[in-house]
Amino acid sequence: MKIIAVSGSRRKQGNTASIINKILEPFIEEGHDTETIYPGNLNIAGCSGCEGCAKTGKCIVKDDMQDLYPKIIEADAIIAGSPTYFYNMTSDMKKFIDRCYCFFSFDKTDRSVWVSRLTKNKTRFAGIVSICEQNSAEDMGFTPAALNAAFSSLGYRIVFNQKVLHVFKAGKILEDKNQLEIAYNNGQKLLKTLKLDRNL
Ligand SMILES: Cc1cc2nc3c(=O)[nH]c(=O)nc-3n(C[C@H](O)[C@H](O)[C@H](O)COP(=O)(O)O)c2cc1C
Repeated sequence: MKIIAVSGSRRKQGNTASIINKILEPFIEEGHDTETIYPGNLNIAGCSGCEGCAKTGKCIVKDDMQDLYPKIIEADAIIAGSPTYFYNMTSDMKKFIDRCYCFFSFDKTDRSVWVSRLTKNKTRFAGIVSICEQNSAEDMGFTPAALNAAFSSLGYRIVFNQKVLHVFKAGKILEDKNQLEIAYNNGQKLLKTLKLDRNL
């Protein structure tokens, strides 16, 4: 199976990356193909709203996102993790999501009727992680809900929605055995869900 993770943080030793690594562990242990993508470290423009994708479902903006589209299509599941920046996901995560607009197909005369092209041939699964510095869920703002809504609309069934509070310094989360265990268990749950769906 192929699993991709998308990190809204640019910090490869950061808290988001550390939790993502833990979630991926059960997949790596079984030899599945995993890759973590850092949109903030790539050349990806925000969506220009040109509607160039409307007919074909293919984005016409030629940047690093073009390398990611086949990976998104191929992946059995996606893990989307973002730190909270000003009560929401980071702009790096948001630009990645906005560029997934090309996966939507709208009815020609009624735009309230739409589907995601990603659900055409297989069931999609996702796991969500939100991380913030402050102590209360309020300070995480819209992050978990915004990630949940975006990936649900793209056709992913959200298998878990992990919320990590009160970590600031990069990698500080590695001292929190409880959150690491939750992350590992979430990875296992996603793996078991995929196996059940794919009859493996
Ligand atoms: C620009 C910016 C905005 C932030 N906004 C918030 C916020 O609104 N609420 C919060 O609790 N933490 C906020 N933080 C703290 C980060 O969410 C926190 O340090 C997180 O652990 C970073 O994750 P990372 O190590 O994966 O980069 C902010 C950090 C930055 C750099």
